Amino acid sequence: MAQLWGGRFTKETDQLVYDFNASISFDQRFMEQDIRGSLAHARMLAHQGIITLEEGARIEAGLKGILTDVREGRLEISPEYEDIHSFVEATLTSRIGDAGKKLHTGRSRNDQVALDMKLYVRDEVEELHGLLMGLLKTIHRIMEENLDTFMPGFTHLQKAQPVTLAHHMGAYFEMFRRDTGRLVDIKKRMNTCPLGAGALAGTTYPLDRALTAEILGFDGPTANSMDSVSDRDYIIELLAALSTVMMHLSRFSEEIILWNSNEYRFVEIDDAYSTGSSIMPQKKNPDIAELVRGKTGRVYGALMGMLTTMKALPLAYNKDMQEDKEGTFDAIDTVKGCLKLFTGMLDTMSFNKDIMARSATGGFTNATDAADYLVNKGVPFRDAHTIIGRLVLICIERGCAMDDLPLSVYKEECPLFEEDIYQAISLKTCVEKRLTEGAPASEAMKKVLERNRIFLES
Ligand code: ARG
Repeated sequence: MAQLWGGRFTKETDQLVYDFNASISFDQRFMEQDIRGSLAHARMLAHQGIITLEEGARIEAGLKGILTDVREGRLEISPEYEDIHSFVEATLTSRIGDAGKKLHTGRSRNDQVALDMKLYVRDEVEELHGLLMGLLKTIHRIMEENLDTFMPGFTHLQKAQPVTLAHHMGAYFEMFRRDTGRLVDIKKRMNTCPLGAGALAGTTYPLDRALTAEILGFDGPTANSMDSVSDRDYIIELLAALSTVMMHLSRFSEEIILWNSNEYRFVEIDDAYSTGSSIMPQKKNPDIAELVRGKTGRVYGALMGMLTTMKALPLAYNKDMQEDKEGTFDAIDTVKGCLKLFTGMLDTMSFNKDIMARSATGGFTNATDAADYLVNKGVPFRDAHTIIGRLVLICIERGCAMDDLPLSVYKEECPLFEEDIYQAISLKTCVEKRLTEGAPASEAMKKVLERNRIFLES
C-alpha cells in the first residue's frame, strides 16, 4: 500500500478497503496524459516563480524519464500504488528527491484526474474520428462503383421500389458522416482545461491557468472550479455519440447478415472475415457482423451506467466519479475494434449484382411506376392505383413479373396501356427517372458523390 494521504490516519487501511478504493489497475491507461499534464503544471509553476526554474527542470527531466522507462519496459507500474497519480509522483520523488514533492503544489488529484480524463478522451476522439473517416472512404468507393447496380429498396422488409447499391450505401454514408460531426462537436465543447481548479475552490497560489491551458492545447481554462472537477458531461456526450455509432453499425451489420444469408445471397463476405461451424461443414458464418451487432449492447450499457452514476451527485468531486473510467475505456475500445473490423469486412465484401437486380425485378417494385404511367395519361392516381393492384394480383396468380405480362392483359384492365409500358416499368427507367435531390437516379447520385468527395478531402 502506497498512498498520498497517510498523515491524519492512525490505523492502516484494511487491504480490502484499499483494493476496493484503488484505481491503478485501470487508470494506468492514461499515464501519458497524466505526465503531459504534470509537465505543463510544473512549467507553469516555474514560470510563476512558485517553484524555482532549477526545480522545474529537474521535475521535467524526471517525468520524461519515467515516461520513457515505462514505455521501454524498464519501469513497471506497480499495483501497490493507489492510482496512477500516486505512482508517478512517488516514483518522481524517489528519483529526484524533494523537488518531486513540490510538483503537486497548487493542484489536487481532483483537477488532475479531471484533466487526465479530458486529455485521454480528446485523444481518443481524434482516433475515433479517423476510423470513421476510413469507413466513410470505403462506403464512398462502393458507391462510386455501383451507381447502376440495381437492387430492391425495402419498407417493412418488403420489396418496395428499386434503388441502387450506391443509393443504399449512401444512406449509411449520411449516418456515419453525422457521427463524425458529433465527435467534432464534443471536442469543441469539452476543450477547456480544468487544471488549477484544485480540489474544488481554486488555490491561493498565483497559478497561470491560461498558460497551462495553452500548453495543453485547450481553448482556455474552465470557468468554474467546482464544475471543473465534477463535470463529466463530455464523457456522457461521447458515450451517447458512440452508442449512435454502434446503432448505425448494428443496423448495417443486420443488413449484411440478411444479405449474406442463403435466401438473399446479395453479398459474399470474404473468407478472411467469415468463420466456419465445428459441426456443419457447409457453413460460412457472418460472425464479425453478428459480434458488431452484439457489442452494441455493452456500449449502450456504458452510457446508461455513466448517466446513472452522475444522476444524484452533489457538488463537487465524489469518489463515485472514479466509475467514469472502466465503462468509458471499454466503450472506446469496443467501438474502435468494431470500426476497424467492420471497415475491413465491408472493404473485402463482394456484391452479387445479378442476384440483386433479379430480386429488384421480382417483387413488383415497379408497381408505383406502372401507376405513374397511367397518371401521365390522365388517369387519377387513386384509379391508377386500383388498376395496377388488379394487375399485380393477376401476376401473382400467373407467377410472373409485371414486365412479363402480355399487353393484351394490360389492355383488358385499361385500354390506355401501349407497348411503351414495358420501357416505362423497366428497372433502369424506374431508377433513372427518380431524379429528385437525394433520389437514386445516377444523375442525382453523382451530385451526392461530389459532395461526399469534398467532405472526405476536407
Ligand atoms: N482515482 C480517483 C478518480 O479517478 C482520483 C481522484 C481522487 N480524488 C479524491 N479526492 N479521492 O476519481
